[in-house]
Amino acid sequence: MSNKRRTFLKNTGLGLLAVSLVRPKTKSINDSSNKTKIDQSACEMTTTDYFGEGPFYSDNPPEISEYIQGSESSKGNPLVISGRVLNLECSEYIPNTIIDVWHANHQGQYDNTGFNFRGFTRTNDQGFYLFKTIVPGKYLNGTDFRPSHIHFKVKPPNFPQLTTQLYFEGDDKIPGDAAASIDSGTFDATNRIIPLNMNSTGVMEGQFDIVIDGNGISVGTQEIHLNTGMIYSASPNPFQNSLTIKYGVFKKSKVGIKIYNVEGIEIAELEDRIMSAEKYEATWNPSKYLQPGYYFISISINNVQVHYVKVLKE
Ligand SMILES: [Fe+2]
Repeated sequence: MSNKRRTFLKNTGLGLLAVSLVRPKTKSINDSSNKTKIDQSACEMTTTDYFGEGPFYSDNPPEISEYIQGSESSKGNPLVISGRVLNLECSEYIPNTIIDVWHANHQGQYDNTGFNFRGFTRTNDQGFYLFKTIVPGKYLNGTDFRPSHIHFKVKPPNFPQLTTQLYFEGDDKIPGDAAASIDSGTFDATNRIIPLNMNSTGVMEGQFDIVIDGNGISVGTQEIHLNTGMIYSASPNPFQNSLTIKYGVFKKSKVGIKIYNVEGIEIAELEDRIMSAEKYEATWNPSKYLQPGYYFISISINNVQVHYVKVLKE
């Protein structure tokens, strides 16, 4: 679909149709004809890691069950990593992308005989993925410890895979690491060093959105860069009976606030109407039978999802 056609659909209120279309691959990151549409500062391709897959990959890992990576009896600080897989322009999210992850245990050891802390998950219908694990320990690489890291192989349907590594802000081993310290060029690790925040249950949480060559479902061009609206907070998090969502609309537009479960199934719609530029608050009082677990709250502007946050139901 051309960008003109896409704009037309959005402007005539038929954007919902555009959102449901899968666009054939027609351009690449080198296609200068599309560059005016890209906010390069906000949408950057996820880079490969200088160390590639490293020496400890095992073929044919199992599928991660119940979003839990590694055995539940494992020691270590609980960690949840989640994010979204997007195409190179951040204009489409990519469902059914295989996210194959492996990492060391809390003592910095890999399981090289079994599959503890090795497994794959998939992005859901909304392009989201999530897995629960522990903060990996550090291991010696020569005479120096490598920073804590998680290895990823990201496999979007019908496109080449990306092999990379994820690091964590504040890790004192990053500056001395040959891969994690690279801050420009092909192996630039800057956007793969993410902050971790501890939630009120003591679980560390991090968000890693992955930008990769692939085909997905339109989220629109530019709007994902938060210039039309965003969610400021969803609290308390974790929540039990009630969740308050604070968000902003920056231009008069059709606004949707929806809640998806971890499988990408829409389970609630809190707003769906024309709203003027303002700050708003919505309250969600889900059924008492709502399953504990993670949920994604998304805001859409003119039928284009522009922002999301993740919350935990206890
Ligand atoms: Fe490693």
